[in-house]
Amino acid sequence: MSGFFIVFEGGEGAGKSTQERHLASSLREQGLEIVRTREPGGTPAAEEIRRIVLSTDSAGMDPRTEALLFAAARSDHVARIIRPALERGCVVICDRYLDSSVAYQGHARGLGAERVRDLSLWATQGLVPDLTIVLDLDPADGLARFAERDRMESEPLEYHRQVRAAFLALAEQAPERYLVLDARDDEERIASTILERVVAALAEQESHA
Ligand code: TYD
Repeated sequence: MSGFFIVFEGGEGAGKSTQERHLASSLREQGLEIVRTREPGGTPAAEEIRRIVLSTDSAGMDPRTEALLFAAARSDHVARIIRPALERGCVVICDRYLDSSVAYQGHARGLGAERVRDLSLWATQGLVPDLTIVLDLDPADGLARFAERDRMESEPLEYHRQVRAAFLALAEQAPERYLVLDARDDEERIASTILERVVAALAEQESHA
């Protein structure tokens, strides 16, 4: 595959979508073809699953059901949007991906990181990001930005603390494929750090092509 797959991860309210927008527009200015998408979602079926899984009507859903629904949404999204875009040579920028399942369902819900990761790897036929950008933020700060909360945002602070720790641990295991940034930093500075890293990674990929 000749494209490049970038994922943004982090807790709620860390400013992922703002930074995704900055990155997409900077890369488009350089003439690259960009596909921006999100999880859960990205296809009609996956958006339906998103509605179910985030709805407060689904309160009390079994964690296994939750993990399977996120994985089901992901398989459709990868098969129909992400993989075809990468095969066309696009840069794909995705809001959340497999690491969200590992952090939220694997760690915070306690289903086990490895099992949840394997489930998603099966669902996506092994597609992992080329680069993951983690916007790190204390969940007490992030959640304060929401008046109305979906089912996940309504979880207690401790749940979100575990999610945060999980992202940091994943990044530590493979620093060459992660960029961790303090989400409280200046918006423009974060954007330029991300762009610099992405441009370097794209050049590196080009040199191996
Ligand atoms: P969203 O409103 O997109 O949150 P954010 O703007 O913070 O990305 O809702 C996605 C929610 O679903 C978020 O709380 C994280 C959660 N989630 C999981 O629990 N597992 C997953 O695999 C994914 C992709 C998301």
